[in-house]
Amino acid sequence: MSILVTGGAGYIGSHTVVALLERGRDVVVVDDLSNSSEESLNRVRELTGRDVTFVKADITDRSALDAVFESHTIESVIHFAGLKAVGESVAEPLRYYQNNLVSSMNLLGAMADHDCWDLVFSSSATVYGDPEILPIPETAPTGATNPYGQTKLMIEDICRDVAASDPRWRISLLRYFNPVGAHPSGNIGEDPNGPPNNLVPYVMQVAVGRRDKVSVFGDDYDTADGTGVRDYIHVVDLALGHLAALDHLPKGCDVYNLGTGNGASVLDIIETARDVSGQEIPHEITDRRPGDIATSLADPTKAQTELEWRADRGLELMLSDAWRWQEKNPNGFNEPD
Ligand code: NAD
Ligand code: UD1
Repeated sequence: MSILVTGGAGYIGSHTVVALLERGRDVVVVDDLSNSSEESLNRVRELTGRDVTFVKADITDRSALDAVFESHTIESVIHFAGLKAVGESVAEPLRYYQNNLVSSMNLLGAMADHDCWDLVFSSSATVYGDPEILPIPETAPTGATNPYGQTKLMIEDICRDVAASDPRWRISLLRYFNPVGAHPSGNIGEDPNGPPNNLVPYVMQVAVGRRDKVSVFGDDYDTADGTGVRDYIHVVDLALGHLAALDHLPKGCDVYNLGTGNGASVLDIIETARDVSGQEIPHEITDRRPGDIATSLADPTKAQTELEWRADRGLELMLSDAWRWQEKNPNGFNEPD
């Protein structure tokens, strides 16, 4: 019996595959490598001393997905595969709806057809839009501000409807806050294509000398230092959250915040990154990024209680592990130019 991990060659997926293999589980990864490299799985094999089955396939192709279920006995699925860049989703909404919705519907259909009913899905804190309550509980109102967020809300709804249609389903929707950091070995980590959209990878590329300076998107927010505050979570804690979710699947469908409950500002990140890397991080204040919010902070109580999981790796560890990955792999998984 294996666990199917869609998108398992990607950033969060590869860390979760390590955690699963270390827990003695057998894993099949299906990924089309549209935003990742097979090298991440080679590193996973080296790190764990275990094999992982890899199928290169686009899961918007239902027949490719059926073939995976027919050639392996799948007991449960963790579904990471999806496109995730907010700006790109505004520019190319149909590509986002097509990829994220069709892949998820195919997966649910293939699972039911192959008598597999246990699913963990990657949702996002982006579904809370501009939150009215802080820290944000799972019961807070939802509302997406871009097509990427819409796909997450729509897939959550599809999962609820599917779970209500057959009592065998057990589905956990995990709303991640801001995943950062890397495996402590520095051998796997986040490897964005082109200039990073997210703060921590950008800061790391400045620290390593790949980029000149960080633009701080606004210092006039209603926060302690005026810069945006987020709930950053170490990717290893997040990976362990998936194992906890698999161990505590609900009857039907339920939703959990995966965050720490602690906030850090943009300037906190820059300062801590400077401390752990020993590198100067030149930065300048620029205009706000359209669509950004002042503060995002999880109330992680439900996951702590029901999943018996807690994110306890702090900001220094997140950034020192991110730095180790960046320093050992200045060009990510690519060979040096
Ligand atoms: P990632 O891009 O590194 O990983 C996603 C993987 O899915 C990639 O390897 C990509 O090649 C693959 N993929 C995409 N479409 C596919 C398809 N049709 N068929 C097969 N494979 C496909 O992203 P990540 O950061 O690891 O995110 C994983 C999941 O978590 C995504 O669903 C993302 O939306 C969600 N999420 C991420 C964040 C974050 O900040 N990283 C935050 C909240 C939610
Ligand atoms: C982004 C996504 C969101 C997703 C989340 C987690 C956007 C608009 N939103 O949000 O949908 O759920 O990541 O992956 O992309 N910042 C800078 N300079 C930079 C980059 C970011 O100052 O170069 C600031 C931002 O204004 C924000 C903070 O850093 O205050 C974190 O930004 P980022 O890492 O992009 O995450 P989110 O804004 O939370």
